[in-house]
Amino acid sequence: MGPPSFLMRSKSDDSFLSILSTKEEKSLLPAPVHRKPKIRVRTLLGHCLYRRVILWTAGILFLLCLALSSPGGRQRRQRLLELVDLSHQDVRSSGDEGEAPTVAKDTEGVVFVVSAGDAPQVQVQGEHMPTWLRFRHLDGFFNGLKALVPANEHIPEYPRKPGEASPFPLTLSYTGLPTPTPYVSQPDYESPEYISQYHAVEKCYLDKERRIPVPDLYAYNGVVQGQPEPAMGSRNLLGLRDDVCFDRFGRYGPYGLGYSFDEGGAFVGTDTEQEGSSTVWEKTGKINYENMDWGDAQTRCYESNKKRFADPAVPTKTAAVTGQLHQRSFLRNERQKIPRTAVVIRAYVGFQWTQHNILNFRALISELALKSGGEYAVHFLLHVRNNNEAIWADPMTAQRILDENIPQEFHGLCTLWSEAQMRLYYPGKFGGSFQNPSGGDIHGVYRSAHFPLQHFAMQHPEYEYFWNWELDMRWLGNYYELFDRLSAWAKEQPRNELWERSAKYYIPSYHGSWENFTSLVHNETLNSGREATYGPVQFPGRQPLRSELRGESFMPSNCDPNDKSDTECGRGEEADLITLNPLFDTEHSGWVFSTDVTGYKRSLPLPPRRCSIITASRLSRRLLNTMHEETWRLKHTMFAEMYPATMALHHGLKAVYAPHPVYLDREWEIEAIDKAFNGGRDHTAGGHGSPFDLNNEHNHKGSSWYYNSEFAGLLWRRWLGYAQFDGRGRNGGRSGEGQLRGGKEEEERAAGTGRLCLRSMLVHPIKWEHPSELD
Ligand SMILES: *[C@@H]1O[C@H](CO)[C@@H](O)[C@H](O)[C@H]1NC(C)=O
Ligand SMILES: *[C@@H]1O[C@H](CO)[C@@H](O)[C@H](O)[C@H]1NC(C)=O
Repeated sequence: MGPPSFLMRSKSDDSFLSILSTKEEKSLLPAPVHRKPKIRVRTLLGHCLYRRVILWTAGILFLLCLALSSPGGRQRRQRLLELVDLSHQDVRSSGDEGEAPTVAKDTEGVVFVVSAGDAPQVQVQGEHMPTWLRFRHLDGFFNGLKALVPANEHIPEYPRKPGEASPFPLTLSYTGLPTPTPYVSQPDYESPEYISQYHAVEKCYLDKERRIPVPDLYAYNGVVQGQPEPAMGSRNLLGLRDDVCFDRFGRYGPYGLGYSFDEGGAFVGTDTEQEGSSTVWEKTGKINYENMDWGDAQTRCYESNKKRFADPAVPTKTAAVTGQLHQRSFLRNERQKIPRTAVVIRAYVGFQWTQHNILNFRALISELALKSGGEYAVHFLLHVRNNNEAIWADPMTAQRILDENIPQEFHGLCTLWSEAQMRLYYPGKFGGSFQNPSGGDIHGVYRSAHFPLQHFAMQHPEYEYFWNWELDMRWLGNYYELFDRLSAWAKEQPRNELWERSAKYYIPSYHGSWENFTSLVHNETLNSGREATYGPVQFPGRQPLRSELRGESFMPSNCDPNDKSDTECGRGEEADLITLNPLFDTEHSGWVFSTDVTGYKRSLPLPPRRCSIITASRLSRRLLNTMHEETWRLKHTMFAEMYPATMALHHGLKAVYAPHPVYLDREWEIEAIDKAFNGGRDHTAGGHGSPFDLNNEHNHKGSSWYYNSEFAGLLWRRWLGYAQFDGRGRNGGRSGEGQLRGGKEEEERAAGTGRLCLRSMLVHPIKWEHPSELD
């Protein structure tokens, strides 16, 4: 076997590159975006034209030389091309196609240049600095396993009230390392309780011969001393475990991290510190993933468990009705059937697959689809950008596109789609848009990424719920635990003031308990003078769905339509929409796409709208049916992040923001968090002052979950065992600045704390993982 290849390079990319390596093409390349030399913005924008011309010319020449001479030039050029491809998109908020460069000017005179990779530049002009840049960086994320303590002895570095004990200096608990144990989040399928209620679960295997069971991931019992608490959201609230942490080998070792290609592993991880990592292979051995076929494994798993699942032909019942049915079938000793959920990963041609990416999706498929006995299924929805490809007419064409763009082990999970197909599927004229800031096509993925998801739902009646998911998201933990607990928590939320609670970030150290938060939202709603949203919303020009014309409603039958204070309405009802950021009112919010609303009478006011940034969310079949009907029959649509939430609002579907744990990298004053993140109208995240206003979005840069986050990638790569610039320095710190910290040498140091072990969290965006991807 040759030198390890970290990047899966497809044939087409190589030929693309060979075309590029001719001289003329090279000279057309723009300046590299990653690792920009530090040039003061003020200098570039200086008054003297002559000086500017010279500086710019010299700068461009220098950057060109850099791009063409460095050994990593190939990879970088490739990334640049992706940028060029997207450069018509001025401001990219989120989505499956990567972010185009955006330039935003902060109100306080700070210019942010956000590049498509996550090496953004913050250049501070003059005296002004956003508040958050003044806060000290937290250290507690970066200590390792040797400082593990039982959860009840854990003292977080943050948040801490004045006078509260500091966890530092750390006392090391271990000279060697603690031992991890298998971490299972699925129900105990063998338990009498489960068996009495549901059909038996057939165990699933990776191979046809049923010799290789699906492995478990591993966790450590305890928390690394000093590790901060999330600034927003709460594990406890959602039912996610708070007393365990995950290192890279426990998380990904079972799927190939830390062993060679020859042994069927992914190679990555062997180049990091790895003391004691072999525990995770003791039970199963190192699994050989070389000829893995996940599509086949998933189908076999489902087939052997078919009897467990609801028949797709049976129309959806409301929660109240199913409750009665369950009781009745229980009396007759019939077992309950469970609904199925598809996790739809938005893939696209030209994406550079890496071994780390592959590991992540092996984990996701194993934990969600195989370990659950088919309750979940994973699909890749592959966007073929070239509308001239005969992807339906010719199987060889489709195969070639798969071969060139998706690792072979995932081929069986792919569905191809194109914008041309969407034009055919949703034909006719859509009418005008109030505004179209991106200038994009109505059938284009940029504005209407929901179209292919709607189509996918129509083609797959076997699923009741659909998670829209992206390639650059990671869950540091067991995927089943995340999706299952989010769904269970959302189901328990009453509809009373649910939209209002969902419109705010929950900051436990500021708001207190969830009950405090609920009471606060109630008070704030009263004080705002606005009616709480309850059931379908009326507005000028509203057009009913066919079901509404028939007199049907999405409200559970036990809800009194005239009693908005009923705190039981909606309890036990599955959510139609679960989002991972607040559902905010886009009106006057300063969010760039707030008025990208199509097909409504423009002589009337804009319809009421809600939105959640980052399209990762769970949509129910009935929400997707609603979106589909509004699209094809009423010719309505809106910008991708606004459409599902707005459809739920208009038609009285149950939508909820799940406050999952989100970290900030600095020691924010608690009041400042609320001010920055709930600084919109009536103390929400919406309306004027919204944190999603282009001018306020810089506040998210130090968070672990936002499309422009710098911290997510930094923390993730440190956790993977690679040294990172710590982002600390003169200008308040920025990505790519400061000292190189972490990595093999530091983690192996005898006096150090070892490799990182973090509690579960979502991180986004992860644009690269192995250091070789940058060079
Ligand atoms: C939360 O509610 C409890 C009980 O009503 C109260 O004692 C406590 O002070 C509240 N906390 C906050 C932060 O409002
Ligand atoms: C809400 O208002 C009530 C009545 O004025 C008050 O007792 C309660 O403490 C308030 N809750 C919060 C969280 O502010």
